Amino acid sequence: MKVLFTTSEIAPWVKTGGLGDVAGALPVALRQAGCDVRVLVPRYPALRAAFPDAGHLVHLPWMGGHLPGADLYAAQTPEGVSLLLLDCPMLFERPGNPYLAPEGHDWLDNPLRFGLLSRVAARLASHASPLDWRPDVLHCHDWQTGLAPYYLRFYEHGAAKSVMTIHNLAFQGDFSSDVMGQLALGESDWHMDGVEYYGGMSFLKAGLRHADKLTTVSPSYAREIQTKVEGMGMQGLLQARAPDLVGILNGIDPAAWNPATDVHLAAPYDRDHLADKQLNKQALQREMGLAERSDCPLFGIVSRLTYQKGLDLVAAIGDGLIQLPAQLVVLGSGSHELEAAYRQLAARYPGQVAVTIGFNEGLAHRIEAGADIFLMPSRFEPCGLNQMYSLAYGTLPLVRPTGGLADTVVNYSELALHEGRANGFVCNAANPQSILGTAAWAAGMWYDKPRWQALQRNAMAGDYSWTGPAQRYRDLYESLFSA
Ligand code: ADP
Ligand code: GLC
Repeated sequence: MKVLFTTSEIAPWVKTGGLGDVAGALPVALRQAGCDVRVLVPRYPALRAAFPDAGHLVHLPWMGGHLPGADLYAAQTPEGVSLLLLDCPMLFERPGNPYLAPEGHDWLDNPLRFGLLSRVAARLASHASPLDWRPDVLHCHDWQTGLAPYYLRFYEHGAAKSVMTIHNLAFQGDFSSDVMGQLALGESDWHMDGVEYYGGMSFLKAGLRHADKLTTVSPSYAREIQTKVEGMGMQGLLQARAPDLVGILNGIDPAAWNPATDVHLAAPYDRDHLADKQLNKQALQREMGLAERSDCPLFGIVSRLTYQKGLDLVAAIGDGLIQLPAQLVVLGSGSHELEAAYRQLAARYPGQVAVTIGFNEGLAHRIEAGADIFLMPSRFEPCGLNQMYSLAYGTLPLVRPTGGLADTVVNYSELALHEGRANGFVCNAANPQSILGTAAWAAGMWYDKPRWQALQRNAMAGDYSWTGPAQRYRDLYESLFSA
């Protein structure tokens, strides 16, 4: 099974969130499941620097509209995954992250940047590909590659089947119809079954309408996105495509997220050496300038600071949380209001609240290891990786029962504990008082060491590997050819 994976980010080199983690780890697991995977990704500065010896493969001439000519370079990751680096300096050789300028606004030519990525993906999957290697399956991720299944169906013909994975329906790649010409699309594409979406054009809608199979990153989210509340306008289309839509839970990368081997930690540990976890708490308190208290729990947050993650609800109960008593450590960036709210909280409680605004991979690992309770009260969460990192690290997650959080976290009850299932705390309502109530309940339980450790052991015993999910993707690819 030959698979062309196409993505706008890939960990550890280019990552703004969970999509990067998935694109970094899933191809490795797919290789182990017997697939021949190549990953097409723009040659951003970080990838140019990481693979200075990448070899030139081919030049891709102009493909219509304003889509510029480009080049493909080949490289191989240390795990043996083949990368196809899409080189087009005018679109990708920039500072900032893949989507935003350093000042924080979207690059205005994002339709063109990801239109080119989509068009090249479709070309490489088609009869007109300049490469000898032809994929059986084109696997696309999120809106940035949403036009690829569409281009493949209507502009670049070939035998390859397409799969479109939704990592987050909130990001749809919706633009004005003015960009159609730039993308080499015309009037024949401008209708309900084409790229038109509520009067504009949508990358994601085109992919969801025309990919052969759709997946999303948890079974619960697969159901939720077919409802008006979570469907973000796409629910009708997703209901119509329900027979082709499946939820496959993400895994986590065992090479990067294992407390026994994690290079970022002060003291590696496993479920038989839980006492060593305490050393990581002390080291984190020191690193973050927190008082070295061992008489109260430490809550941790690592997140994009956005409405999705429900962290405005936590900011609203900051005072109550500290008075439990508890300490709080936050690493994140996003909305300026939320960044300011957390900075103010840290200023009010020196030694009890520590806040780092920014993106810091090492610190993210140290918070996962050093905190006692991980706060992730998302309003919606397609899958969520941080609650799985927390579970693997014995840092009990406090979550809302939505999407992948509902599929991975089992609320504490005596019964669920004794059945070996309970592994965290679940707060039903998305309001500050309910979250504070659940936090108080969890903080109280922290003093009951035998119960706490039983919960930690349940959490750490879970299977969060990519092995099962990779097999499910493989089965899905094969189902495309069995009819
Ligand atoms: P999402 O993709 O919606 O942001 P996930 O839980 O799936 O949420 O994945 C988030 C990923 O990004 C995790 O690997 C997390 O550790 C990482 N992350 C988020 N914010 C930061 C940050 N400020 N610094 C370092 N890593 C971060
Ligand atoms: C998205 C979602 C997150 C998911 C990640 C990887 O960013 O918000 O829930 O874990 O993609 O699939």
